[in-house]
Amino acid sequence: MSQSPAITLARYGTDQLPAIRATLVSLYGEVYEKEIAEDPFFSVERFEQRLQGHASRPGWEAVVAYDGGEAAGYAYAAALPERTGWWSHMLTPLPAEEIQEDGQRTLALFELMVRAPWRKTGLAARIHEELLANRQEERVTLLVEPGHPKVKALYERWGYHHIGDQQPFPDAPIYATMLRLLR
Ligand SMILES: CC(C)(COP(=O)(O)OP(=O)(O)OC[C@H]1O[C@@H](n2cnc3c(N)ncnc32)[C@H](O)[C@@H]1OP(=O)(O)O)[C@@H](O)C(=O)NCCC(=O)NCCS
Repeated sequence: MSQSPAITLARYGTDQLPAIRATLVSLYGEVYEKEIAEDPFFSVERFEQRLQGHASRPGWEAVVAYDGGEAAGYAYAAALPERTGWWSHMLTPLPAEEIQEDGQRTLALFELMVRAPWRKTGLAARIHEELLANRQEERVTLLVEPGHPKVKALYERWGYHHIGDQQPFPDAPIYATMLRLLR
């Protein structure tokens, strides 16, 4: 599908989560249908718990893409707090100066997903860039499953580098941790 002129991107903060929660959960259920059926870590209930936790963080923002009135994909992110657990889950510790956080240094991109009909249209890249636009952090980090090398390659094309691996929850997959400088 080529990108329709009716595509709009909307930005939301924590206060607006109640208005978009059902959309975020519904798209997750569709995009992760296979994983949900196979692995309790990916269940909708666990996703909702993670969403609630992430959205409670200062500076949480989501960007949702709509085609006409229909949600087609979204991403959300928040800054890592000063005392973040993000870097403590690394399987090989990183140098102290690289993991020093002050609540404003690093944006964590927690989710990015696009419904199948809107893939390969550039929409994922647009959502991603819109989410990063106007952010004040120095850098952005995300996790990607090493078993999804094409998604990892996509992020490399967007300027991310693989800096190590981590397991954020005891029953989570081991994820490649990626970092991109923003300025
Ligand atoms: C990641 C995503 C937003 C990228 O959208 P896009 O820019 O339109 O790019 P594509 O969908 O073409 O994905 C790029 C490649 O990665 C592959 N890929 C995408 N998601 C994948 C997944 N979850 N598992 C395995 N491979 C995947 C695609 O098949 C494609 O490979 P191809 O070029 O051989 O067809 C979209 O594919 C998506 O929503 N995927 C499911 C959710 C997901 O995995 N999000 C990323 C979490 S880190």
